[in-house]
Amino acid sequence: MKICKCNSCGNVIEILDDNGGNLVCCSEEMELMVPEASDGAREKHVPVITKDGDEIIVSVGSVKHPMDEDHYINWIALENGDMVTRVNLNPSDEPEARFPYVKGSIVYAYCDKHGLWKAIVE
Ligand SMILES: [Fe+2]
Repeated sequence: MKICKCNSCGNVIEILDDNGGNLVCCSEEMELMVPEASDGAREKHVPVITKDGDEIIVSVGSVKHPMDEDHYINWIALENGDMVTRVNLNPSDEPEARFPYVKGSIVYAYCDKHGLWKAIVE
């Protein structure tokens, strides 16, 4: 999963078919988001995965991330091989999502201030 952000306007995109071109927004090259590259608190951003039958509950993070208008978890996504499932969140929501349990899949959480974070489903 490749996510890029415009550091000028804040647009976030997912690259669905990577052909190597330069992605430009607001006349600047977009930044490829690297998980856990920001100085945000790990305990508020690293997704916590709890198995619940044949599903997982993903909470961000071990200390609940704020869900304020100007700082919140915008989405949580699960990548399992060729399949990506994303739950978009709003500031009034809990920073949580449910997905089917698939061992080895990757969970991503995107904070609008602190970028991309991930965890592996055990
Ligand atoms: Fe954050």
